[in-house]
Amino acid sequence: MEFLTSTTHLHITTWVIGLILFFLAAAGVVKSKGVHMALRLFYVLIIISGGALYYEWAINFRTDETGMDYDMKFMFGILLIGMMEMILVRQKKNKSTTIFWGLFVLFLLLTLFYGLKLPINFDLF
Ligand code: HEM
Repeated sequence: MEFLTSTTHLHITTWVIGLILFFLAAAGVVKSKGVHMALRLFYVLIIISGGALYYEWAINFRTDETGMDYDMKFMFGILLIGMMEMILVRQKKNKSTTIFWGLFVLFLLLTLFYGLKLPINFDLF
């Protein structure tokens, strides 16, 4: 399964497409159930590609410096997906989404931070 773990490109592709689908669905640009369904497929692809990177690399790179960073990345990535789903479902039921948008932004920043801090590919922080 080297294609899943030799680079982070596949993972990046899945979450970029996922975020675009999420914003399209949330903004109501495309009024079709298909966008939300496609997004749900991308949740799975994001989790598979991220999970494979975690499985392959978290143990190798677990040093004093990275500590629990891989686990934080995993957790915030999943929580972010949870917030996307909460926002879309609550929007559909005409319920308030303010708090979930706040958490979405927070988890997005934390997921990007940990992703870009960890050693594979971009290592910005
Ligand atoms: C929409 C949700 C997600 C976003 C926006 C996101 C974002 C990112 C970013 C920016 C990177 C760094 C890529 C690079 O440096 O080339 C990354 C890498 C990674 N992601 Fe995600 N991710 C998401 C979901 C997940 C999930 C659900 C998991 C776990 C199941 C996960 C696990 C990982 C792992 C293990 C890495 C490799 C870290 C490294 O060593 O550099 N991600 N992700």
